[in-house]
Amino acid sequence: MIDVKEYISTNKDRFVSELIDWLKIPSISSDPGSKANMLAAAEFLKEKFAEQGVDKVEIYPTDGHPVLYAEKMIDPSLPTVLVYGHYDVQPPDPLELWESPPFEPIIKMTDAHPQGAIYARGACDDKGQVYMHVKALEIMAKTNHFPCNLKFMIEGEEEIGSEHLGKFCEEHKELLKADSILISDTDIIANNIPSITTGLRGLTYLQVEVIGANRDLHSGVYGGAVANPINVLCKMIASLFDANNHILIPGLYDEVVELSEDERNAMSKAPFDLEEYKRDLNIGDVYGEKSYSTLERSSIRPSLDVNGIWGGYTGEGSKTVLPSKAFAKISLRLVPNQSSEKVLQLFTDHFESIAPSGVTVKVYPHHGGEPVVTPTDSLEYKAASLAMIDTFGKEPVPQRGGGSIPIVALFESVLGLKSVLMGFGLNSDAIHSPNEHYGIFNFLIGIETILKYYDHYAVLKSGQID
Ligand code: BES
Ligand code: MN
Ligand code: MN
Repeated sequence: MIDVKEYISTNKDRFVSELIDWLKIPSISSDPGSKANMLAAAEFLKEKFAEQGVDKVEIYPTDGHPVLYAEKMIDPSLPTVLVYGHYDVQPPDPLELWESPPFEPIIKMTDAHPQGAIYARGACDDKGQVYMHVKALEIMAKTNHFPCNLKFMIEGEEEIGSEHLGKFCEEHKELLKADSILISDTDIIANNIPSITTGLRGLTYLQVEVIGANRDLHSGVYGGAVANPINVLCKMIASLFDANNHILIPGLYDEVVELSEDERNAMSKAPFDLEEYKRDLNIGDVYGEKSYSTLERSSIRPSLDVNGIWGGYTGEGSKTVLPSKAFAKISLRLVPNQSSEKVLQLFTDHFESIAPSGVTVKVYPHHGGEPVVTPTDSLEYKAASLAMIDTFGKEPVPQRGGGSIPIVALFESVLGLKSVLMGFGLNSDAIHSPNEHYGIFNFLIGIETILKYYDHYAVLKSGQID
């Protein structure tokens, strides 16, 4: 009989080196030039699933990037878990801020990761976390111990809003039939404070364009007399917040679910070290909506951020020009019960209404996703909690997350399935940022915890009275 811990420790270098090979493929979903890389990343995974002796593994084309699907069906009387993850990654820019190239993974020791961390784009979000599931499958195959039937759906468009996955789910309801969904694409509070994510924010992403004169103008000849689209855009954006950092879009908070005093009290008891948070980010203070804590601001409250802003002259030296156009990419994070469509409409109406008469304003929608809250009284939550107790030796803390995984709400509405968000990243892993990394400790304990999850889930399910 193979001992799981021993197997992991004997094979950990190989596990890591396989993941490193996968991380070398720059599967940047937003890059129109990376179609071949996207397919290569899916093919790599297909081969790894095939090596584990799955019953079926296939790459399904979509109108966007392909979906990888695999399954290992043991017995119809066992519960079926559908594992979801994504093989696409965010663009690595700005490249000059990487200490090592984003697609040439290296291992480095850090304070947060004394056992080492893998540095590469996608190391934590989400290839490293998907690969834990592949290696958990390897161990189940080696030990011939499958407590559950397993299905895997690993997509290539999560980082661009999962635009085509909703249709894929609609069209493959039978294929995706399962009892619940397991996702490792979130974080834990710290390596000695395990947590389970119990909610995700929704998202409305858009681009705005402010158009002034019909051409760039000499900033001496025209400056002061004609609207400068960049000045105007900055003023418009600044006007979206009051002095308390409350967002001033009429109707934006109408649907927002306010937490009860009890719920807020419970949240305030969650382990959170504000000093450590500030130290990690090297900031003197936090910033946000008055009367809410940092944890609340980043999970149960809506937010609005400019993700990029440009226009005019940004090259070397100076050029005295009054640009004809200015642009910004803006994201709004949404909480229950806001709707991404409705927020898009509210933003658009308001932004157009505040444009001064000397400019034209256009708002272009990008993608969206709905907020979700996942139950803490389900068998799935219980199984995840027991699994983390086994591996971390501590009961995990339920914690609402601030990021978005757009498909999770659709899993509920299209497949009728709830998800368990059992991820293993750390806040300090720099996802979407230069020098993204994933701790080897996290990678290995993730594999072990996933295996425990299936064990507990099968037992809890078999005891369930239908
Ligand atoms: N894995 C993240 C979401 C996440 C990270 C949730 C950490 C909770 C904790 C996911 O890959 C992500 O980045 N999603 C995007 C969605 C968007 C591009 C549609 C996001 O949140 O910006
Ligand atoms: Mn992710
Ligand atoms: Mn991401």
